[in-house]
Amino acid sequence: MTQTLTLRRPDDWHLHLRDDAMLQAVLPETTRHFARAIIMPNLVPPVVTMADAQSYKARIKAAMPQGSRFTPLMTLYLTENTEADDLAAAYSSGLISAVKLYPAGATTNSASGVANFDKVRPVLERMAEIGCPLLVHGEVTDHDIDIFDREAVFIDRVLDPIRRATPALKVVMEHITTKDGADYVRANPERLGATITVQHLMLDRNHMLVGGMRPHYYCLPILKRREHREALLSAATSGDKRFFLGTDSAPHATHAKESECCSAGCFTAPVALACLAQTFDDAGALDRLEGFASLNGPGFYGLPPNEDSITLTKSESPANLPKQVENGSDPITVFDPGSPVYWSVT
Ligand code: NCD
Ligand code: ZN
Repeated sequence: MTQTLTLRRPDDWHLHLRDDAMLQAVLPETTRHFARAIIMPNLVPPVVTMADAQSYKARIKAAMPQGSRFTPLMTLYLTENTEADDLAAAYSSGLISAVKLYPAGATTNSASGVANFDKVRPVLERMAEIGCPLLVHGEVTDHDIDIFDREAVFIDRVLDPIRRATPALKVVMEHITTKDGADYVRANPERLGATITVQHLMLDRNHMLVGGMRPHYYCLPILKRREHREALLSAATSGDKRFFLGTDSAPHATHAKESECCSAGCFTAPVALACLAQTFDDAGALDRLEGFASLNGPGFYGLPPNEDSITLTKSESPANLPKQVENGSDPITVFDPGSPVYWSVT
C-alpha cells in the first residue's frame, strides 16, 4: 500500500549553493523540489556589497536548469566594514532578503565575519528601521568555550544583548541545534524565528561518533546530545509558526569530507524532503509538515506561500535515494541518515 502526501511547494530558508562548477552541480538538486531559497553569502571572497549580490544572483540565474522557476533570495555577509547605505539600497531594491551575521571564525569561510559586535551596531539599527532581517550563525568562537556549548553561550553573550539594544530588529536564529535555542525562540515571540536542518532533526552526536567517526555527519553547529534533537523535533512538529525549514545543505567534495581535517557541512538538498517526511511520519506529525516546510518561512519573511505543490509518496520498501552528485573529478556525497527512508518526492 502506498501513501501520498501533497504539500504546497516548500522553500529552503538556509542554503549554500557555492559558485562555479559546484554551483552548476548542486543547483538542480534544490530547484527540483524547492521554489525559493535563502542563499548564503559565504563564498570566497564573501558576498559583501550590493554589487557582489547582483553578480552572484546573475551567476545563479545563468546556472539554472532550463524551464526552472526557482527564485534565489539573496543575502549579504555582514562585516565590520559593511556600509549601511549600500545594504539599505540592496534591500529596498528587492535584491536581498536578509543579511547574515557570522561571528569571525565560526564556520566554513567566515574569516571576514564580525569580531567586535559594537562596530556593526549602526548597521543593525538601520536594518531594524528598514525591516531587513538579520540571520545569525549562533555560535561564539572563544577558544575557551567548548564546541558543544557555543550556541547556548552565544544566546546569552551576543544574541540577547543585540536584541535588547535593537528590539525592532527582525532576527532568524539559523540552524538551531539545542533546546536552549528552541526555548529562547519560544520565550521571545517578537520578531524572532529559527530555522532547523534535517540532520539536526534526525541525528544526535552519537550517530556521528559511536562505532567510528562519520565525516558526512560533521557540520556546524555540531550535532548535539539526544535531548537537544528531541527538543528540536518537538519545536518543528509543534505547529509553532516561528520554526521553519532551512536545510543548511552545504556541499563539499567527498575528498574534503573524507580527509584528515574534514570540512563542516552536510549535503542534504537532494534528499531533504524525503528525510523530513520520514522524520515527521515517525513522529506522528505528517499533518504539520506543510507548515514547517512550506508555510511558516514565507509567513516570517512576509511573502506569500507558493501556489503550486509537490507530492511525496511512501512505499513499502525503502526509497532509492541518490548517494552522490557528480561534479567533474570532485563528486559530492549526499547525506544518508543511516536509517530507512520510505518517502520520496514523486
Ligand atoms: C557551512 C558551509 O559549509 O558553508 N557549513 C556547515 O557546517 N553548516 C557553513 C555554515 O552554515 O556554518
Ligand atoms: Zn549554513
